[in-house]
Amino acid sequence: MTATRRPLIAGNWKMNGLTKDGQTLAEGLAAKMKGADTVAFDMLVSPPFTLIGAVGTAIAGSGIALGAQDCHTAEKGAHTGDISAVMLKDAGCSHVIVGHSERRTDHGETDALVLAKAEAAHAQGLIAVVCIGETEAERDAGKTLDVNAAQIAGSVPAGATAANTVVAYEPVWAIGTGRTPTLDEIQEVHAFIRGEVARKLGQNEADGMRLLYGGSMKPGNAGEILPLADVDGGLIGGASLTIEDFWGIASAV
Ligand code: PGA
Repeated sequence: MTATRRPLIAGNWKMNGLTKDGQTLAEGLAAKMKGADTVAFDMLVSPPFTLIGAVGTAIAGSGIALGAQDCHTAEKGAHTGDISAVMLKDAGCSHVIVGHSERRTDHGETDALVLAKAEAAHAQGLIAVVCIGETEAERDAGKTLDVNAAQIAGSVPAGATAANTVVAYEPVWAIGTGRTPTLDEIQEVHAFIRGEVARKLGQNEADGMRLLYGGSMKPGNAGEILPLADVDGGLIGGASLTIEDFWGIASAV
């Protein structure tokens, strides 16, 4: 974390929550934000599509940003079951997560598709949270840096800027498992990713771009992970589903 990059604490609710749950969580977080003396971070919540309207209402005026977990590459048309970036913008979103490993795995999303989704988001003025990260087999094979370099090269649009893009480094083996890389490993990969972003987009964009760590971040480890030099916040799954845990992580900033 540096003084120039404001930390982003981002919740990824995944496929969790009915209306009442989402409202309660969002209202609770909004109350925490409004009640805080100083807030040294930006906060983002990314509920499932069905809750975007209700959550948007609950967080209105709190400063919490609203995001979605995916978007289609097209603006509209015959794509049953999909949601476009312009629809997300219309629903009040400012951010959209693209390329989460669960979408890469469950829906066969490729780097090229993720890049196209990020471009679709940018075209609507949305901030794309582009997810990358190696699998356990790739890490064991010593390919961590290569895999992340390839995903930066393939998933981040050439037109990405520090203002319209956030990169989330999420080792696949750390997601939802309670396991995390060591602090040295997290910093090493984040610094490497920033270097790859610089190679692709230039040093200025790389210096300003927020790089989030994701994968089993909890209140108990956030205090060690968030201060790392090239970690500018977190993308949080499980621990974003309770006010206590999510606020506990944010409070570690
Ligand atoms: P987790 O998920 O915090 O539950 O590990 C993180 C993510 O997948 O974004």
